Amino acid sequence: MKVLLVNGSPRVGGNTFIALSEVAKTLEENGVRAEIVQIGTKAVQGCIACYKCAELGRCVFNDDLYNKIREKAIESDAIVIGSPTYYAGPNGSLCALLDRLFFSCKSHLQYKPGASVAVCRRGGVSAVFDRLNKYFTITNMPVVSSQYWNSVHGLLPGEALQDEEGLQTMRVLGRNIAWMLKNLKGEIAPVPQTEPKIMTNFIRPNADAAD
Ligand SMILES: Cc1cc2nc3c(=O)[nH]c(=O)nc-3n(C[C@H](O)[C@H](O)[C@H](O)COP(=O)(O)O)c2cc1C
Repeated sequence: MKVLLVNGSPRVGGNTFIALSEVAKTLEENGVRAEIVQIGTKAVQGCIACYKCAELGRCVFNDDLYNKIREKAIESDAIVIGSPTYYAGPNGSLCALLDRLFFSCKSHLQYKPGASVAVCRRGGVSAVFDRLNKYFTITNMPVVSSQYWNSVHGLLPGEALQDEEGLQTMRVLGRNIAWMLKNLKGEIAPVPQTEPKIMTNFIRPNADAAD
């Protein structure tokens, strides 16, 4: 069993990466392989509504990023999408990619569990979570949840490590994905173990934060 985790953030080691790494680590601890893929910093082609994918079974644009994510998504048993919050939405290049991926690969993705992870300094994270889940819920994909809406807080790269509740939410998500996948594959996996509940209010104040 394998899970693909797509990091929409242009920051390779940023807060979304930290959040996804916590999910990936927990998946591995629970016997599920996990791979985080960065979408990178290059411009990403958006959907042009040509509908050629209906004939071709893939997007008409043949770029490496789309090809890589498409192939890995098809090989995977579940998909997790992580995004930073940009003006209360997922970052634009991630949406450009996901519009094309989900429009052209529905038959490959349906019935695979999906989960989204949203990262922000302070606000808009629920809107990102909601927007990302829309990709799954129009694609017959069961959405995996955690014990809170899947969000982690931080502004500067690394600050997410201080959001202990957010990271616990990621670990619970990882265990829930593993549990759901095993049961979908025919195992009778027991309900995941729980941790003592952590509660934090965002992270420590940062004197340098600008917005
Ligand atoms: C263009 C831009 C817009 C942002 N908009 C928001 C926002 O609406 N709400 C928020 O809380 N943080 C916002 N942020 C902060 C990022 O969400 C935050 O730094 C996050 O940790 C970035 O994740 P990353 O390190 O994975 O890239 C914004 C950052 C940028 C660059």
